[in-house]
Amino acid sequence: DTTGIPHRPGRLPVIGDLIGANPRTPLQDTLRIGERLGPIFTRKIFGFEIVFVGGVDLVTELNDEKKFGKHVGMGVENLRAVAGDGLFTAHTHEPNWRLAHDILQPAFSAEAMRRYHPVMLEVAHELTSAWDAADGPVDVAADMTRLTLETIGRAGFGYRFGSFERAEPHPFVTAMIRALRYAQLQNVKLPFVRRAFAGTPEQNRADIATMTDLVDEVIEAREGSENLLDLMLTEGHPATGERLDPVNIRNQAITFVVAGHETTSGALSFALYYLTRHPELLAKARAEVDAVWGDREPAFSDVAKLRYVRRCLDEAMRLWPTAPGYSREASEDVVLGGKYRMRKGDWVIVPLPLVHRDPSAWPDPERFDPDRFEPAAAKKRPAQAYKPFGTGERACIGRQFALHEAVLALGMVLQRYDFEVDPAYELKIVESLTLKPSGFTLRPRVRDRAA
Ligand code: HEM
Repeated sequence: DTTGIPHRPGRLPVIGDLIGANPRTPLQDTLRIGERLGPIFTRKIFGFEIVFVGGVDLVTELNDEKKFGKHVGMGVENLRAVAGDGLFTAHTHEPNWRLAHDILQPAFSAEAMRRYHPVMLEVAHELTSAWDAADGPVDVAADMTRLTLETIGRAGFGYRFGSFERAEPHPFVTAMIRALRYAQLQNVKLPFVRRAFAGTPEQNRADIATMTDLVDEVIEAREGSENLLDLMLTEGHPATGERLDPVNIRNQAITFVVAGHETTSGALSFALYYLTRHPELLAKARAEVDAVWGDREPAFSDVAKLRYVRRCLDEAMRLWPTAPGYSREASEDVVLGGKYRMRKGDWVIVPLPLVHRDPSAWPDPERFDPDRFEPAAAKKRPAQAYKPFGTGERACIGRQFALHEAVLALGMVLQRYDFEVDPAYELKIVESLTLKPSGFTLRPRVRDRAA
């Protein structure tokens, strides 16, 4: 029941709030609207009305696992055409969710991170080799995507996409981006708009085939090392011994390649954007790298020592959480905030950039300030004010993987380069499933001390 929930003025019969809605920037539109309308509001396009909740107090209630759980709907439901019952797109009640979650959990333990470190280091060196050789500005998001795709490919599946040797993306990536866009845009109600932006069903079928064929090839070529794929193929459930079936393994492989790289790439790109816009903060982050790592190549245990570099990433993901939201569904009848009646099964979207800008938890929210994540400052905030990795049992399984990889890579580029910025660049954000800065370039120059 959405009575009493604010919406934009001027809602029209039939089309609702359609005017001004841009299919390329749904999240940024929602952010602008939410900043005016407050902690809860609706947007309606044709007959379809969605409730958004961006206020920390209400989100704290929504994150209560006893009353709410993950809702697989909207964009996520559409993605099942690509990733089936893989971890991200599975319903919590599907047996394969728990089975895969329990089998894969050990692949994300601290012990497992230690195993991935050499691969992450190898890929970070490929990035610095590419930047050493660059004789002009580099596209930061494109190169960070090369880094994160190679990392998940090798650490997860023993597969090399060869991203740094290619000028154009690997065919898997082209197919993946198109298939994700196709899935997302199935929510657009006007067929001609949908077709114009999303492409044809035939193209979509070909794209999905490109992805599944590659995954099958990788499974075929497996050599048996300690990676995600190996775990899925050889391990049973720790309690029951039950194994994952081949179709589910394929769904998980696609899920991990998709979920395991775009988000981390965006986080690294936004962090570099903000640091190069704030030279005094960059100097502070680099001073930490110099003090802790010196000229050395970082060992596994050196990575977590970069506390300030980590805070820079945390703050970048506050302003632009690269997985920009999640949905919550009531598991019983509830009255949200003592005011909004929700029946069992009703759901809302939590747009994270709004939660992360709620002024009750984040004073001067637009300011980039990594010190917000100093332990003393963080302790003063409500626990649910910062959720870039989602919430509850369906939160991100790859969080430690992403953070180790990102702190390592950011530390290494700060250790090695000075950056020349393009002073005319203004932050522009592209939305796909994730957020990334678009057209953001830097000119890296090897520092005197690192040369
Ligand atoms: C789930 C964010 C990196 C694998 C999620 C969710 C968020 C998120 C918000 C919950 C989505 C929901 O509730 O609907 C991020 C961010 C990352 C990142 C911001 C990087 C900065 C990774 C990496 C991997 C990964 C590196 C794999 C190696 C997954 C999987 C799920 C998930 C499999 C679904 C978990 C489940 O429902 O059981 N992630 N993620 N993510 N993420 Fe991540």
